[in-house]
Amino acid sequence: MARITASVYTSHVPAIGAAIDLGKTQEPYWVPLFKGYDFSRQWLKAHKPDVIFLVYNDHATAFSLEMIPTFAIGTAAEFQPADEGWGPRPVPKVIGHPELASHIAQSVIQDDFDLTIVNKMDVDHGLTVPLSLMCGQPEAWPCPVIPFAVNVVQYPVPSGRRCFNLGRAIRKAVESFDQPLNVQIWGTGGMSHQLQGPRAGLINREFDNNFLDRLIADPEGLSQLPHIDYVREAGSEGIELVMWLIARGAMSDSAPRLRHRFYHVPASNTAVGHLILENT
Ligand code: DHB
Ligand code: FE
Repeated sequence: MARITASVYTSHVPAIGAAIDLGKTQEPYWVPLFKGYDFSRQWLKAHKPDVIFLVYNDHATAFSLEMIPTFAIGTAAEFQPADEGWGPRPVPKVIGHPELASHIAQSVIQDDFDLTIVNKMDVDHGLTVPLSLMCGQPEAWPCPVIPFAVNVVQYPVPSGRRCFNLGRAIRKAVESFDQPLNVQIWGTGGMSHQLQGPRAGLINREFDNNFLDRLIADPEGLSQLPHIDYVREAGSEGIELVMWLIARGAMSDSAPRLRHRFYHVPASNTAVGHLILENT
């Protein structure tokens, strides 16, 4: 049977991708940010999974106001890096895992979570920046990746509670897949940031660090937080954090092992948070 062995959480700021692509990681502004991922790149090499289930949000790239799936699972054999206005990022294409993705769709939909099944989709910075942070600049990504897009852009967005319970359904789905795969689940986006309006530039270190504490130790309690609290405390784009609860809900019920914790301000307009949790 397949098993979820670990979860990774990280922000996905597009400027981080640009810094990597343009060779700016050694500039003083970026050094402290990338230092926070040195351990993570080594860890991923030592704990290479067979598949990464990558929870992220599309930023009106593959989807638009014409079509707004709340939860969309990528079942294709491959996904191209999206052109977000200045050409696609020079990163490898994403190889999918249609068999596991289809199985998860079957299991999770039968478990009463409505997923949109996507057989063709380009993936934007929400997916490629976490891969770059964790893998550097390889010729190919280290394993197949199942993209799982969550609507946190256009209201109504799903609640933290629903995301957490969806994570549990994904765990059950993975554990009923009839191949001995080592699966990691990544929750991405966040932390506090607001990109527009009078509060643009908002950062809330106290909220972010409390969120990290509770995600580790009290995820079910944290999942009760209403979306309005995210927006008030963490800014309009802070709502991306509900995606971390999907990954956390997919972890075992017993306490995980904290392998890495990192927090850094600023990266562009955003507070960057990062955790690695292993199932014991
Ligand atoms: C920024 C952060 C994001 O999450 C995003 O999707 C776009 C921009 C930023 O901080 O610049
Ligand atoms: Fe974003």
